[in-house]
Amino acid sequence: MSTVVDLEGVSPITEGRAVGSPPPPDVLLDVRGLKTHFHVMDGTVPAVDGVDFQLKRGETLGLVGESGCGKSVTSLTIMRLIDIPPGEIVAGEIWFDGQEILSLPMAEMRRIRGSDMSMIFQEPMTSLNPVFTVGDQIAEAVKAHRHVSKKEARNRAVEMLTAVGIPSPERRVKQYPHELSGGMRQRIMIAMALSCDPKLIIADEPTTALDVTIQAQILELIKSMQERTGAALLLITHDLAVVAETVQRMAVMYAGKIVETGTAQEVLLNPKHPYTQGLITSIPSNVPRGQRLNVIRGTVPNPFRMPRGCRFEPRCPFAFEPCQEFDPPLLTTDRDRRAACWLLYPPSELPRPGATTPDALAPAAPVARERVNKQ
Ligand SMILES: Nc1ncnc2c1ncn2[C@@H]1O[C@H](COP(=O)(O)OP(=O)(O)OP(=O)(O)O)[C@@H](O)[C@H]1O
Ligand SMILES: [Mg+2]
Repeated sequence: MSTVVDLEGVSPITEGRAVGSPPPPDVLLDVRGLKTHFHVMDGTVPAVDGVDFQLKRGETLGLVGESGCGKSVTSLTIMRLIDIPPGEIVAGEIWFDGQEILSLPMAEMRRIRGSDMSMIFQEPMTSLNPVFTVGDQIAEAVKAHRHVSKKEARNRAVEMLTAVGIPSPERRVKQYPHELSGGMRQRIMIAMALSCDPKLIIADEPTTALDVTIQAQILELIKSMQERTGAALLLITHDLAVVAETVQRMAVMYAGKIVETGTAQEVLLNPKHPYTQGLITSIPSNVPRGQRLNVIRGTVPNPFRMPRGCRFEPRCPFAFEPCQEFDPPLLTTDRDRRAACWLLYPPSELPRPGATTPDALAPAAPVARERVNKQ
């Protein structure tokens, strides 16, 4: 019986290849230089194009950014649920719980997925199977990864429904997804995702499809379940207010790349990248009364014609000499703070115009220093 919509179809193109060294043991997830592209009729979409971030055991990280910036493709690549073709994992490594998972055989990956790492999707109806009761679906998820009897799996389903705050769980296990409200279905998804005690929970816009009144309850539930189980959480969201309330650290993504990371509090209070600054000042509640809402000018780049240098350069109010030509790497600015912006580099480390690599350093560019100071 297949209870969950089958999202597989990943070819083992990355299996068996040579990889680097593992991260320290306290790092649960280490995404390094990840590139996932899609080959479509009109060309190649570099959906994820050099993504680096880490998540420690038990830590919570919010991944934010505008629609289409590559958040879901990043999470689906971690789960190895990208359709190949049209997708292709072009480069990078993903270390999870001490092993590099892009090089694992699919069978091994299937074992990890749903047990050690599990995902809560935006729309529970697409992930729940309409023809099986919710109890059967949770029990099936448990049986797929644990050597338990049918009765034990059924008991675990009831226990999980109780844990996610579903009243009368004995009765609810016998119901079908369509008999439940949207909020209830999302609770079922959370119960299913947590039924095998995962070390990593990935939640991709878990509340977007729900009524506003239910959203806060579901977020609260995800947070409390994360705290109770000690799992790490990667929360994907558009909503900076959700980030502020739910996660310890955040990563901001723009056009397939991470442009800033740090603790949620520091990034939100003192954003270093002009894109993060734009995101924060475009939140209505952050704008003093009588002042205009700051909308980031321009639009996201056409994926078939990505800017050569910094991808935010065409929209950036602070763009200067190196930005059009060179893509800034993530720079560690403080402990646990990283941002990819030439404004943050000392002038002596800026790439020289016409240089082929950003390592070719230029003499001080005074205009750059001025702009850094203005920020
Ligand atoms: N199967 C696919 N085939 C071709 N292009 C794809 C495919 N899946 C995603 N893309 C493209 O990859 C890019 C990143 O998409 P992704 O779904 O990761 O964005 P997102 O940040 O999750 O956006 P949203 O906030 O709207 O969910 C987009 O340009 C999208 O069109
Ligand atoms: Mg998405």
